[in-house]
Amino acid sequence: MNDKSTTHFGYKEVDSDAKASLVAGVFHSVAARYDLMNDLMSGGVHRIWKRFTIELSGVRPGQSVLDIAGGTGDLAARFAGIVGAEGRVVLADINESMLSVGRDKLIDQGYQGNLEYVQADAQYLPFPDNSFDCVSIAFGLRNITDKDLALRSMLRVLKPGGRLLILEFSKPTNALLGKAYDSYSFRVLPVMGKLVAGDSDSYQYLAESIRMHPDQETLQEMMEDAGFTNCEYHNLTGGVVALHRGIKA
Ligand SMILES: C[S@@+](CC[C@H](N)C(=O)[O-])C[C@H]1O[C@@H](n2cnc3c(N)ncnc32)[C@H](O)[C@@H]1O
Repeated sequence: MNDKSTTHFGYKEVDSDAKASLVAGVFHSVAARYDLMNDLMSGGVHRIWKRFTIELSGVRPGQSVLDIAGGTGDLAARFAGIVGAEGRVVLADINESMLSVGRDKLIDQGYQGNLEYVQADAQYLPFPDNSFDCVSIAFGLRNITDKDLALRSMLRVLKPGGRLLILEFSKPTNALLGKAYDSYSFRVLPVMGKLVAGDSDSYQYLAESIRMHPDQETLQEMMEDAGFTNCEYHNLTGGVVALHRGIKA
């Protein structure tokens, strides 16, 4: 039985207390080149996955949205455009380097007024109960030490009827695609990371952490165990990525 005193950092087993600073090292290192690497690694397809997330969120003008592990702000920017001046979007991330790249980018793009930036840990969200109509987390859950704790924290800050959207790497549904994806992840990504971001280890961690992340069904069960209802998921790009959605009753 896992007593949660150890956890995984990629394929390595580490003390649970050590994981957050190892993850912090990854994102401090890649922050400046994060957006460029995302476009290169996914051939721009991450933009389609994020657009689908926005569509399924059902967010409307005037609503309040928390984008946790929001990083460089792709989702937060789209949400800010939808909720408008009467709405509120909080871009929250634990990592000051990612948050600062995100804040600078969104200010340069002209987003202001309805966007706030908060440095926060998804496991201990610093917001009152029932604050948000929608909480999103894109490619963040994988990096969090105690995912159950984070899911319960997200449930707490959602209003009744509010939606949680989790966009995350998942398990390819086709074995052939899985093989091709494995060799791309382990052979190409670390080299690309070295050339573009000057850091191959962080992209090795990316490939490993994806394999250690719960698959589609397991994550859905975790959401149900945390108290979400009407949980469902959509496979994207053959299950390379999945979008999970759950509701707070
Ligand atoms: C792969 S990036 C995703 C950024 C953005 N959501 C996107 O889709 O491009 C993962 C983000 O999760 C953040 N993160 C990791 N652990 C976290 C935690 N415990 N609480 C909040 N954010 C966390 C990292 O700092 C990083 O910015």
